[in-house]
Amino acid sequence: MDVERLRRAFPARHIDYYPAIDSTMRAAVGLEPGSVVIAGQQTGGQGRHGRRWHSEPSSGIYCSIALQPMPALTLALGLATADAIARATGMVCDLRWPNDVMLAEKKVAGILVQVVDGHAIAGIGINVNHTSFPPELASEATSLRLHTGAPVSSTGILLQLLPAIDTFVDLDTETILRLFTRASSYAAGRRVTVEQSDGIIEGTTAGLDPAGFLIVHQDNGTDTLIVAGGVRAAGS
Ligand code: BTN
Repeated sequence: MDVERLRRAFPARHIDYYPAIDSTMRAAVGLEPGSVVIAGQQTGGQGRHGRRWHSEPSSGIYCSIALQPMPALTLALGLATADAIARATGMVCDLRWPNDVMLAEKKVAGILVQVVDGHAIAGIGINVNHTSFPPELASEATSLRLHTGAPVSSTGILLQLLPAIDTFVDLDTETILRLFTRASSYAAGRRVTVEQSDGIIEGTTAGLDPAGFLIVHQDNGTDTLIVAGGVRAAGS
């Protein structure tokens, strides 16, 4: 990771780099909006729903950005991440609602948004040069390198990611929802299962509501609004 190159490219931005840290989410708390925290490795990487984020040394992008809270922020960040990967590598990712970035049905990047004292912390983890994953993740996770067969520059992706985030968080909610619906094979017409607090439902996705929540049409005719993820392709 060439942090000096990033600082030269974005001189107005505050960029902190830690070779190793527990989690960039914690280090970004209290920083001014636009500030970025990047780590070479995380010893306590946080994922969504209280899970941990596999943060192998020197293989991934582990960063958190301080932002203003806004509607559809998580969807905007997924779009920005997919856009940055496409610009840096030419790889076109899918988006699994709300913000899992996917390549060939496996997760290549994840996004965690936390609101602390009225400020949003956007955590983005991208599997860049991992050559393998622990057995419990191997069937679900991939990396850019595993997908292309060649090493990928993390600096090159971050050079695209930071401006992409600025672009997508500037859009109005309606535009974010339209772009997400266009970019995601999961937004409509996809057979999915969804883990809910009271069990698993299965149905066909039927678009996003005006707030960006996913509508799932079940075979019994019920439409359920999914507010918290847990979406999987049916049969996977
Ligand atoms: C997910 O579960 O999909 C979200 C994963 C978010 C991981 C990133 S890595 C950088 C930042 N720091 C963390 O501890 N988590 C986020």
